[in-house]
Amino acid sequence: MPEETIAQSLIKKGVSRRDFLKLSGLLATAMGLTMAPPVLAAEETTKPLRSARINHAVLEAMETKPRLPVIWLEFQDCAGCSEAITRSNSPTLVDLVLNTLTIEYHETLSAAAGFQVEQAKEDAMQKYAGKYILVVEGSIPLGMEGNYCTIGGRSALDLLNNAASGAAAIIATGNCAAFGGLPKANPNPTEAKGVWDIITDKPVVNIPGCPAIPEVTTGTIANYALFGALPELDSLNRPKTFYGVTVHDRCLRRAFYEAGKFAKSFDDEGAKKGWCLYKLGCKGPTTYNACASIKWDQGLSFPIQSGHPCLGCSEPNFWDGGGFYQGQSAPLDRPGVTAVGAAVVAGAAIGVGNILVNQSKKKAQGGAE
Ligand code: SF4
Ligand code: F3S
Repeated sequence: MPEETIAQSLIKKGVSRRDFLKLSGLLATAMGLTMAPPVLAAEETTKPLRSARINHAVLEAMETKPRLPVIWLEFQDCAGCSEAITRSNSPTLVDLVLNTLTIEYHETLSAAAGFQVEQAKEDAMQKYAGKYILVVEGSIPLGMEGNYCTIGGRSALDLLNNAASGAAAIIATGNCAAFGGLPKANPNPTEAKGVWDIITDKPVVNIPGCPAIPEVTTGTIANYALFGALPELDSLNRPKTFYGVTVHDRCLRRAFYEAGKFAKSFDDEGAKKGWCLYKLGCKGPTTYNACASIKWDQGLSFPIQSGHPCLGCSEPNFWDGGGFYQGQSAPLDRPGVTAVGAAVVAGAAIGVGNILVNQSKKKAQGGAE
């Protein structure tokens, strides 16, 4: 019997055909601004035609593709990335994307526990060998022969190697899984590593952040679910669409930076007036992330908007990088990102951010999305 398609599973859940079309359109719009189907990548079309074709491609994929199996492992983490996803209110783009997946194993979310759930994971790995996406949250300790983190009597290292061997691709969500995060901070007692330090024979997409932005993680998975393609990555294996420009480039306090208006303490007049936080240690100028446009809690806010300097949570070694609550100077340009390229990527990310913000505004006003 053929596997249930994404559309069939949505309709089975009570989503009407009309709502299904609306939802696929929403997903197509967001994905059109982020990661287009590979079939369109090399083509030159007008904007409306391109958008219509993306719409059609998303609808067709949802009607014909089975839900993508996902195995989600957690190692040395705080479960913050999982929590960020589950804290999203529904109905959102994140919920919609989760409907394109079947999460076969998730230590925090699976209803089963103990040997039962470990067996379910083994069964899923066999059934979907070579087809499933492996999502990893948390760092992997290599010290003490890997025994700083064990699940069901097996080390994180063993579990990662085992699950990675049958995965189609791996997504390391959060700074811990991508770059080692807090567990790797000096003196790194467990000898923590990120996934890509260990798995070198499979594609690894890094979605760093503390936590990762839910829409970025789920959007990357959805792109694979619908089109079987991973996004274009930067030199740190981060999707360029979301990590192509700095937080500083999209920051709502940027005009104050340019005008030389800086808060000097967290409670001075400048802080109260929303001035730039650079002199309070903001790492926005050297941090690549989409938080300034997509924001958190359906576009409500992000650290700098809430009055806190950027800590650089999407960059390697951010805990040891220095500068927490200390003034610092930071170079404002990074080689390899051209102004034109940066503007294009920023435009796309701001577009996605606006969609998500509009969704949340409509929701707050009692709208359907
Ligand atoms: Fe925003 Fe920080 Fe840049 Fe100031 S230094 S404009 S607060 S990102
Ligand atoms: Fe992280 Fe800085 Fe954004 S701390 S959430 S990259 S403002």
